[in-house]
Amino acid sequence: MDLSARPAVRALTASKIRELFNAGLGRSDVLPFWVGEPDEATPEFIRRAGMDSIAAGELFYTHNLGIAELREALAAYVTRLHRVVTPESIAVTSAGVNALMLASQLLVDPGDRVVEVVPLWPNLQEIPKILGAEVVTVPLAFAPSGWQLDLDRLLEALTPGTKALYLNSPNNPTGWTISREAQQAVLARCRAHGIWIFADDAYERQYYEGNPVAPSFLEIADAGDRVISTNTFSKAWCMTGWRLGWLVVPPALIDDLGKLIEYNTSCAPVFIQRAGLAAVREGEPVIAHMLERLRRARDLLVASLNEIPGVEAALPSGTMYAFFRVAGVRDSLAFCKQLVRDVGLGLAPGSAFGPEGEGCVRWCFAASEARLRDGVERLRRGLQQGGG
Ligand SMILES: Cc1ncc(COP(=O)(O)O)c(C=O)c1O
Repeated sequence: MDLSARPAVRALTASKIRELFNAGLGRSDVLPFWVGEPDEATPEFIRRAGMDSIAAGELFYTHNLGIAELREALAAYVTRLHRVVTPESIAVTSAGVNALMLASQLLVDPGDRVVEVVPLWPNLQEIPKILGAEVVTVPLAFAPSGWQLDLDRLLEALTPGTKALYLNSPNNPTGWTISREAQQAVLARCRAHGIWIFADDAYERQYYEGNPVAPSFLEIADAGDRVISTNTFSKAWCMTGWRLGWLVVPPALIDDLGKLIEYNTSCAPVFIQRAGLAAVREGEPVIAHMLERLRRARDLLVASLNEIPGVEAALPSGTMYAFFRVAGVRDSLAFCKQLVRDVGLGLAPGSAFGPEGEGCVRWCFAASEARLRDGVERLRRGLQQGGG
């Protein structure tokens, strides 16, 4: 009897961050910076909204696309940040990863060619492969001043017949953020060849370059463009465990999207949506507070890392990650395992984000100053003890 999964599923890469995490399980002395989540719990007023909803007996299915109040509030939020968007363009999803899967299920067929800028969050690399797509990658290059995109190379990769570009900006793991000029060029190319842009805007509110939000394709595209924005409550409002996100799609797609949601999850839980509603309506101070903390953490971490001989770190313009090079590291997974074992430091191996990330490690700096300093000391010790 053949009990194996589909070949496309068998071929998926298992998470290397998870492998490392398992290696550190049961060890209370490990200082973890490997997982990508805020270190603060969900604010009380958001939790309260969820609990009040449960207490009020809101425990049944809702509309596939989300409760009307949340779709309206999200439309107002996106309108305030980017461009006029109506609730008919908004679908509430079970977090960002589900939003990305739904967008892919809507438009990506087996055998389709899709393009991604890497290194990149592993889920985004594997989702199109689950659907049988061929993923073509365009690498960012490290420079001490910040990770760089070779725009010409990306434009060349966007050939006629390409189905979609998956672009995560600000980018997990490098913190690289696409410029407005590059966005214009990419949009023009995608318009010319009928290519969809899946813009993963998960980190748009963790942006350090002056504006309160990173440049988005939503601002330069209109409702008739082949542009889908995917987003999440996880990072901006410290809600990773709640599993809530949303999509902005051209209105022409919304009915088909509703069908897909029906057959995937049917709807996001209503009491979670109520918590999300409180976050969108009243959560700007949460974002401002986290951003200030993260900016200080970023500055401290990157400066301290660069004081360690053999370590080269660029200042990320967005996200909560430093993705830095360590001289002599050729197998970042082995290096990270060694750091766990020898000095109790939990970092994510660069290779988890694709072969282009090899030689680097990712550090999530959503942490207190004391923990960051302790971590840097451990890294220094780990390297002295023969890491690298
Ligand atoms: C680039 C990127 N997109 C989307 C997400 C989605 O997060 P969630 O599924 O928690 O909403 C993440 C989470 O780490 C991410 O790094």
